[in-house]
Amino acid sequence: MNIIFLGPPGAGKGTQAQRICEALGIPQISTGDILRRAIKEETPTGLKAKAYIDAGKLVPDEVVIDIVRDRLDQEDCKAGYILDGFPRTVPQAEALADFARIDAVVDLDVADENLVQRLSGRRVCLNCGATYHVSTMKSDCCNHCGQALVQRDDDKPETVLSRLKVYHEQTAPLVSYYQDKNLLHVIDGAQQKEVIFDAILNTLGVKQ
Ligand code: AP5
Ligand code: MG
Repeated sequence: MNIIFLGPPGAGKGTQAQRICEALGIPQISTGDILRRAIKEETPTGLKAKAYIDAGKLVPDEVVIDIVRDRLDQEDCKAGYILDGFPRTVPQAEALADFARIDAVVDLDVADENLVQRLSGRRVCLNCGATYHVSTMKSDCCNHCGQALVQRDDDKPETVLSRLKVYHEQTAPLVSYYQDKNLLHVIDGAQQKEVIFDAILNTLGVKQ
């Protein structure tokens, strides 16, 4: 299955995508993770993307479209994938339709107040992309790969507000875009992580 995870910053796209990908044996393609890796490695794409990400703005469409087109061409995507954080604008969705067939779009729905609380306490592993929250963390190191957990630069309060504004202006229109194509599955993202995981598998028709 080729699946898109839609939803505002902090909705739990990364948390759920990682688990669902493990369950289905397909790759998680997070444009945010790919861009953060490029910044860390100081590649030309990373140098271009850094100022946008630090300001809580979207990286230009042509940059992320090229990244995703190249990634979906790789062998491990043949059996399916989850796109986590792409598309994020209508032009990105239209470009994607030219090079991919999408089977389902999962929209995690969470209120803004809840998102600010989640993002301010988030800690991430920059090595494998795993996500934690200070309220439930048992260690400063990643459970999956042992690397030190850090706070993302764009999780500062003023940047979070900018990301939410950008989401409502540029990404939220994709909800009706995919509803019109009969691909949309809305899940209440304010529930417990386990409940959401089951709800996603259920809506995708995956037997557990
Ligand atoms: P990206 O990395 O994709 O960030 P985002 O969309 O802002 O989403 P987040 O990763 O912040 O949240 P998430 O939904 O993955 O939530 P998570 O699971 O971590 O993008 C970063 C930047 O890159 C963008 O701002 C942009 O500049 C650029 N970019 C990326 N893609 C782009 C594109 N397509 N076009 C242009 N630019 C692009 O969970 C959040 C927290 O909540 C965690 O602490 C977690 O433990 C906790 N949590 C999760 N689920 C629950 C739950 N059910 N209950 C309680 N807590 C929970
Ligand atoms: Mg994420």
